Amino acid sequence: MKTKFYEKCDGNELSEAAEILKNGGLVAIPTETVYGLAANAYNGEAVSKVFEAKGRPTDNPMIVHISKIEEIYPLVTDFPEKARALAEAFWPGPLTMILPKSDLVPREVAPRLETVAVRMPSHPTARKIIELAGVPLAAPSANSSGSPSPTTAQHVIHDLDGKIDAVVDGGECDVGIESTVITLATNVPRLLRPGGITVSQLESVLGHVDVDPAVISELEEGVAPASPGMKYKHYSPKAEVYIVEGSLESFRFLIDSESREGDMALCFNGEEKDIPIECLSFGDENDLSSQAHLLFAQLRRFDELKAKRVFVRAPVSEGVGLGVYNRLLRAAAFKVIKPPVIYGLTGQTGAGKSTVGKMLSEKGYLIVDGDVAARAVVEKGSPVLDELSRVFGADIIDENGCLIRSALAEKAFSSEENRQKLNSITHPAVTKWSVDFIKKNLTENHKGVVIDAAAIFDSDIQRYCTKMIVVTAPEEERLARILERDGLTREAAMLRIKAQKDEQYYKERADILVRNYAPYNLSQELELL
Ligand code: TXA
Ligand code: MG
Repeated sequence: MKTKFYEKCDGNELSEAAEILKNGGLVAIPTETVYGLAANAYNGEAVSKVFEAKGRPTDNPMIVHISKIEEIYPLVTDFPEKARALAEAFWPGPLTMILPKSDLVPREVAPRLETVAVRMPSHPTARKIIELAGVPLAAPSANSSGSPSPTTAQHVIHDLDGKIDAVVDGGECDVGIESTVITLATNVPRLLRPGGITVSQLESVLGHVDVDPAVISELEEGVAPASPGMKYKHYSPKAEVYIVEGSLESFRFLIDSESREGDMALCFNGEEKDIPIECLSFGDENDLSSQAHLLFAQLRRFDELKAKRVFVRAPVSEGVGLGVYNRLLRAAAFKVIKPPVIYGLTGQTGAGKSTVGKMLSEKGYLIVDGDVAARAVVEKGSPVLDELSRVFGADIIDENGCLIRSALAEKAFSSEENRQKLNSITHPAVTKWSVDFIKKNLTENHKGVVIDAAAIFDSDIQRYCTKMIVVTAPEEERLARILERDGLTREAAMLRIKAQKDEQYYKERADILVRNYAPYNLSQELELL
């Protein structure tokens, strides 16, 4: 069949579309949530064609769309007070209510159910078409079953061209995810699908609302879902999707340590430059509406880009974000990754960084020793050592092929340019060594990872650190500790202290300040870790 495309949505075009619907045809229409594939809700045969066109499992019931409140009465046997209050507050809009079904609703709309889902959309084109058709319209999302719901007419064409009678182009959908579904057929109203109307909006009208467990967790084998649609894998691009919880820093660690050819990321605005694989973004981290608006369009773009795996920054699962998280969980078939939280640990010489490292190790953190890493990468015969001798001269290596540290230091610290050269050779190797170390040694029992490194603020590994722990102590105290520990002269110890950045530098960059001096108590200082 040739699918008609109505572009202008003027009176004539909409009348034509309505005529197709009246005659039992299928028309994809814009709504404020996603595009719907509409059929006359009173025509069982037309409704069954919808299942066919979408390849939809026939036990998955449809939402009936109305344009005026009177149209609900023939559809339901009861329109309780709570439902009236919700309609008053949120219709027209992205809310679907499940109510007891009347016999006028053909069984194809809600196979084997005693209930029917009803919604009054707010999109003017949708309302106009329902009005012109003169009947309520049964409409699921206008995608092929299983793929992301369509938020533009082009998405509909991509999935259903040649399988339906017409598409009406109403531009981009505003909300971007499907309506909130609530059932009022249970004692306590129960949220079955989160969407543009949030739980707290519902509760402001109804008081307590139950949230069905299937909203954020996988149904167990054999358990019948309250809403049949919840059992299907959904909203999926062809790529395998993974939700990644935690901070941007943990996300970067995951990507650096796991990514391979064909991997892409879905991140928040502004993060693209910090993530070393191809990224699409879906709004600011705190702009949940924008995430909902863009989610499906971006999931579809990953197919165009031929992504094999997509790692997604986990959105905040509150308000509209609960809807976004719910769709992502299904797109990911519930695959959620929790990369380790990584802290940086540093402090001025003598502050007691190693003591704190030991205590954190006892608390269950895996410690990466920056000194060990720095030594490991310049071992005899290592590629880094070769590169250093090429850049700084063969005389930094002794007759046994080992690095002469003092010789390297003399050359590398002779100018800022040389220091940067040194860092650009050693830092990536130290980072890689640390990543490998973490992958090899991290177990499920670890609370997280602590990278213990004096120069962490100057390093490239800090991009993995969610927080920086800085250990401090007054200069007198640090001096006394160095004198006792290293047996230096007072002058040599002072030189070492002065060669470092001052206290201010460390404090400004600290997320967690650990005071390692009287009257403070180290265990208490580390209590929250
Ligand atoms: O925003 C929306 O709701 C869009 C637009 C087009 O209005 N429609 C939509 O329809 O998302 P659909 O079919 O993709 O999703 C309807 C969901 C399914 O999960 C279905 O199982 C559930 O609503 N549902 C429909 N009737 C039900 C009923 N009587 N009892 C329980 N769940 C029902
Ligand atoms: Mg759908």
